Amino acid sequence: MIRMEQRTLGRTGRDVSVVGQGTWQLGGDWGEVRETDAFAVLDAAVESGVTFFDTADVYGDGRSEQLIGRYRKDRPDADILVATKMGRRADQIPENYVLDNFRAWNDRSRTNLGVDTLDLVQLHCPPTSVYSSDAVYDALDTLVAEQRIAAYAVSVETCAEALTAIARPGVASVQIILNPFRLKPLDEVLPRAAEAGVGIIARVPLASGLLSGKYTADTVFAPEDHRTYNRHGEAFDQGETFSGVDYATGVAAAAEFAGLVPEGATPAQTALRWIIQQPGVTSVIPGARSVDQARDNAAAAALPPLPQSTLDAIGELYDRRIRAEVHARW
Ligand SMILES: NC(=O)c1ccc[n+]([C@@H]2O[C@H](COP(=O)([O-])OP(=O)(O)OC[C@H]3O[C@@H](n4cnc5c(N)ncnc54)[C@H](OP(=O)(O)O)[C@@H]3O)[C@@H](O)[C@H]2O)c1
Repeated sequence: MIRMEQRTLGRTGRDVSVVGQGTWQLGGDWGEVRETDAFAVLDAAVESGVTFFDTADVYGDGRSEQLIGRYRKDRPDADILVATKMGRRADQIPENYVLDNFRAWNDRSRTNLGVDTLDLVQLHCPPTSVYSSDAVYDALDTLVAEQRIAAYAVSVETCAEALTAIARPGVASVQIILNPFRLKPLDEVLPRAAEAGVGIIARVPLASGLLSGKYTADTVFAPEDHRTYNRHGEAFDQGETFSGVDYATGVAAAAEFAGLVPEGATPAQTALRWIIQQPGVTSVIPGARSVDQARDNAAAAALPPLPQSTLDAIGELYDRRIRAEVHARW
């Protein structure tokens, strides 16, 4: 097993690898993933030094959690921190974010993951008002007192939601979209999270794969893949698909991004390297659908930091091609 750089995940006080593993794909929501392949992806990540998995109760309606639960049982030596999420199996109304529902949601995740106490539970992009509800945080504190969960956190769509949650003393970490096509959290969220001792989990780091540079205008995604059916936010927040960037714009910008890649790295690894060197980031959680992707992503942790000239060129690319589409929205 390779040893990867570890960082403390905010107020959990626990260390996680700087490259973690996103597991939305393992639920089957990006097209079919067979069970043996899913285990192989998790194993490739762990063998490459990953000690942090991100999942949710809704990924494959529990399949992703169940696979992780079984994997973790097989590999007790791996010492993985599993962050799950709750809330999106219910109607998205603030009235559903109450203690009794939280208990029921936690209990289902505890069964799926095969643990008494969940390591970390994140509110899964709930309606905005939920982030400022005292009753919600009181209920989350109760779950900790009941030892259903060891710690709680939030996953957010916008910088404003992140700042609301960071102000609460019990929030361990914030999960937010951050990548070379999504720069706003750099100035608006990361410094405030660092001051407060709140961890930052960077999701959608490859802009749903765009930053790998492998797609063209003609690429066809599977019908059950959100990159087919959620391009304009038809099913959930548009920002979750290609990071909210129009597909044609993203393909053109990704081709330019590929021109900035240092020797010995791929565009996907360069995007991940860029994220993990941003002050305040704890862990980046790329999703992978194959063993090779999981290994390549983990290897980004060992790349040298990108030079200032590359950081400047990425900022310039964002300003020229991407900013107008996304900066004001999220
Ligand atoms: N609301 C929330 O809280 C929320 C929302 C979204 C995601 N997440 C979490 O964040 C994780 C990461 O985000 P994401 O999976 O949506 O997007 P992502 O990591 O930006 O993109 C994942 C896609 O990138 C491609 N890819 C991955 N590694 C690659 C490599 N080394 N080389 C080339 N291509 C590569 C694959 O595309 P192909 O399938 O085309 O090969 C993969 O499906 C998720 O898995 C999930 O755990 C949370």
